[in-house]
Amino acid sequence: MDDLRDKYIGLIANAADETAIEDLRVQAVGKKGEIALKMRELGKMTPEERQVMGPKLNALKDEINSALSAKKSALADAALDERLKTEWLDVTLPGRGRRQGSIHPISQVTEEVTAIFADMGFAVAEGPQIETDWYNFDALNIPGHHPARAEMDTFYTHRAEGDNRPPHVLRTHTSPVQIRSMEKQGAPIRIICPGRVYRADYDQTHTPMFHQIEGLALDKDLSMANLKWVLEEFFTAFFGTEVKTRFRSSHFPFVEPGAEVDIQCKWENGSVKVGEGDDWLEVLGSGMVHPKVLEAGGIDPNEWQGFAFGIGIDRLAMLKYGIPDLRAFFDSDLRWLRHYGFASLDQPTLHGGLTR
Ligand code: PHE
Repeated sequence: MDDLRDKYIGLIANAADETAIEDLRVQAVGKKGEIALKMRELGKMTPEERQVMGPKLNALKDEINSALSAKKSALADAALDERLKTEWLDVTLPGRGRRQGSIHPISQVTEEVTAIFADMGFAVAEGPQIETDWYNFDALNIPGHHPARAEMDTFYTHRAEGDNRPPHVLRTHTSPVQIRSMEKQGAPIRIICPGRVYRADYDQTHTPMFHQIEGLALDKDLSMANLKWVLEEFFTAFFGTEVKTRFRSSHFPFVEPGAEVDIQCKWENGSVKVGEGDDWLEVLGSGMVHPKVLEAGGIDPNEWQGFAFGIGIDRLAMLKYGIPDLRAFFDSDLRWLRHYGFASLDQPTLHGGLTR
């Protein structure tokens, strides 16, 4: 019995892991283990021998069992210590520094323009960037054969073979939102619609994707004079000073009469300055809404009339913040964004002053 005891106490002390412990338990104190075999031998003994050996065997069994469980929890503690050594985390370390992003000039200018028009009672409307040719062209009095369609350098979407419906287009201007707003709310109306527009064009002042803000005001007695006042009011608020504008009579199929508006500017050492020099940059198209357009929008032209305009947001941003090349707007160059970007908490408001 002493041999048995020494053998198992020794083996348990050297057991490397929980599986070894379990194997030893089965071998020593399991149903068919060595102790059980010895117990069976008790039957062949004399009552006197049995009285001595019985309690001894039971005591040995208890001793082995407690050695097993002591070793088991020692192994578990050691494993936990090992894990804690490799998995600890210093929660007092300072966090990693991250540079703050900035607001893109286009977003900034969109907010500024929206604030100014909101102050004049214009609500914000929206429409899809992928448009049907009806909203983008026909409803705006630009029929299929009209040269304006070709002039617009339109991006067309693809139709499956055999599908003969006219393809959708990437809207070439925000004017389709005029029609959508008329259908949705009828007259009177006073909305602006900021958004992305697309034309296949690329140079210093043109990019294939750019931004416009459409304006539309319909009422019983609106005239060209109201249009001019609203636009001049807008420019003064936007540039923080009166700027020279040039209204040029022009043609857009969806207005009659129509006018393009330029702003006085000067290009100097690779930057552009507004309000000086003798260059002009076209920033918007405008006019009195064509009766056919009102009809397309379900509005009676004998009862309602009004004006519409489409402002190039990117052009305005170039002028206001002296950015010479439109293409840089969309290069995602971090140095450029940090230089021309705006702090995220500087929300433009009229009462706070738009310019910093
Ligand atoms: N949609 C015209 C353009 O993109 C601008 C415009 C809008 C002109 C509204 C007149 C009236 O060039």
